[in-house]
Amino acid sequence: MGNTDIIWNIVLIGFMASGKTTVGEILAKRMERDFVDLDIMIEAAEGVSINEIFATHGEGYFRDLESRMIEEVSDKEDLILAVGGGAVMRKKSVERLKSGGILYLLAIDAAEVMSRIEGDRSRPLLETDDSERRVEELLEKRLAVYEEVSDCEVSTVGREPDEVAEEIERDFQVRVLSVHREVY
Ligand code: S3P
Repeated sequence: MGNTDIIWNIVLIGFMASGKTTVGEILAKRMERDFVDLDIMIEAAEGVSINEIFATHGEGYFRDLESRMIEEVSDKEDLILAVGGGAVMRKKSVERLKSGGILYLLAIDAAEVMSRIEGDRSRPLLETDDSERRVEELLEKRLAVYEEVSDCEVSTVGREPDEVAEEIERDFQVRVLSVHREVY
């Protein structure tokens, strides 16, 4: 990427059910960019669902796939990219994502996660007897990392995806503008 090519990816990170896919689709439409959902990319590459990947090969296998896909996709430009909730727990993946993009954290709390995932069985990590406890534990483990690696945090609690997308778009435009000012 040359000095004057100010085209970054917008990378959406955050806990399961924080709205990365929904917000990503809205942003892609608003900004006329391509949207890539890493989980969908993984499912397409493997030809089976995330649930099946976890059940057949285990979490470690999924994480390695996820890291490889991040490696691949980070070289692309001008994307809206949503990554799974565990994707930024590997340092190397964070470095790759940051090399070509701005990381937006879609912030959420446990209560909101629980209300959004009701009846949804697509997340293998939450398939336990006490999913609420699992959400709380995982959130606690990940929150500090999410906050540390993100460039900007946007609350999603009690907000419509359109509103969240608008805030991200506005922030992104300010960042692009300020880099332009530095370059020219
Ligand atoms: C995971 C989140 C999921 C998916 C997988 C693991 C996680 O993606 O990658 O089930 O570790 O938080 P979403 O965050 O899009 O639900």
